Amino acid sequence: MKHQMDIKTIILAAGKGTRMGSNRAKVLHKIAGKPMLQRAVESVEDLDGEVIVVFGHDGEQVKESLAPFDISWVEQAEQLGTGHAVQQGIDEVKDDDTVLILYGDVPLIKKSTLAKMVSGVDKTSMSLLTVNLENPTGYGRIVRSESGIQKIVEQKDATVLELEIAEVNTGIMAVNGGLLVKWLSALKSDNAQNEYYLTDIIEMAVNDGVSIKAVHPQCEEEVQGVNSKSQLNKLERHFQNETAEWLMDEGAILGDASRIDVRGNLVLKGLDVYIDCNVIFEGHVELGENVVIGANSIITDTIIHKNAHIKPNSVLENCVIGSNCTVGPFARIRPGTVLADSAHVGNFVEIKKSNVGEGSKISHLSYIGDAEIGSKVNIGAGTITCNYDGVNKFKTVIEDDVFIGSGTQLVAPVTVRKGASIGAGTTLTKEAPEHALTLSRSKQMTLKGWKKPTKD
Ligand code: UD1
Ligand code: CA
Repeated sequence: MKHQMDIKTIILAAGKGTRMGSNRAKVLHKIAGKPMLQRAVESVEDLDGEVIVVFGHDGEQVKESLAPFDISWVEQAEQLGTGHAVQQGIDEVKDDDTVLILYGDVPLIKKSTLAKMVSGVDKTSMSLLTVNLENPTGYGRIVRSESGIQKIVEQKDATVLELEIAEVNTGIMAVNGGLLVKWLSALKSDNAQNEYYLTDIIEMAVNDGVSIKAVHPQCEEEVQGVNSKSQLNKLERHFQNETAEWLMDEGAILGDASRIDVRGNLVLKGLDVYIDCNVIFEGHVELGENVVIGANSIITDTIIHKNAHIKPNSVLENCVIGSNCTVGPFARIRPGTVLADSAHVGNFVEIKKSNVGEGSKISHLSYIGDAEIGSKVNIGAGTITCNYDGVNKFKTVIEDDVFIGSGTQLVAPVTVRKGASIGAGTTLTKEAPEHALTLSRSKQMTLKGWKKPTKD
């Protein structure tokens, strides 16, 4: 049986990123809700090997942000070039490993491209990711002869003729571990920038008879690096456009494909989901068949079942919306809320950590927190669960078929039994018995002979 080679991915992330104009480490700036470095790390998750990140200053900040990931961290205290950076990360590289080199500030590299890069790498062959650019200025140029790639020359070291070359080095390569260790130890810094160039190993490979396979990305954005906030936004827009196209391919209808933002994982559970303009999805969101999301809504970590209608300007976080529910406009559904099927939540209603039973209605201007609401309950306008005494939170229980009149305060802990009605304006402090009308109301009075005050 052939020995299974290990893939070691070395991600370079020691550069200062001065041009970002930010106090945050460059690789922590986000594309579609995830730090760029996290995207680079996730791009190799299917390759099932070790990930080594070479960091510079900002190390603590970067490590903390990527704490959940299995990463070996190595410091490059002084940035002496890409070759020097890779050298910091090769301690654990074994002779027959395949080493994949990525950049922490190139966030949109595709798994399919990397699979092509690592396949077939051995002592006789390596891969280099190159791309033809209309404007190659600034990049290392790929110098070829009839027999293939010969070397890479950096912009600052290139001749006038070499500067004409449109094929450039993306910096991403895959190479045998033993050969890489050998070549890195032979690097010199006698060039225009006095740096140890990783790119010099290409000429060494050619001299050692190792063939260089050029792999190309599906699009330029896949290999684009981020050096400024403007470039960050260009990749963000590219990513969002691609996501919108993918959603439409999966069966969604979009109000405007250029006005939807998916910052996480959006899963369509059925066809004909309709998403209106300016909707933002964050974290893990699932949408069932025929779900409608109204304009300007923000949906975070939420599951919405089929035929539910979220009306405009609603904000939902960490909740479950049953099928055929309607929510909003202007509803705020907070973490821990579960709406059973066919529940209706109207405008200016806030619900937190509550269960709302099947077919129940909370149509206007209410606050429902820490509540257990049965089925077919009708909660009148302006109802408030008083769940907090300034120190502790208490529960409100409202059983099936209850009717709560408008303007009621339910002072928790309190229970409204099955089928009860609560009169409008009640301040409920004790249990309301089933199938009875309970109300607390001060007597109405009119003062006869009362006179309006006048100015003296
Ligand atoms: C490098 C390549 C160039 C290629 C270009 C693609 C070399 C010598 N040149 O250019 O051929 O076209 O990338 O963008 O490799 N880094 C470190 N430590 C260092 C230097 C760099 O970690 O000492 C990291 C940076 O954080 C960055 C990446 O390596 O993520 C590339 O560095 P950068 O300075 O942008 O690359 P160039 O040298 O301009
Ligand atoms: Ca650069």
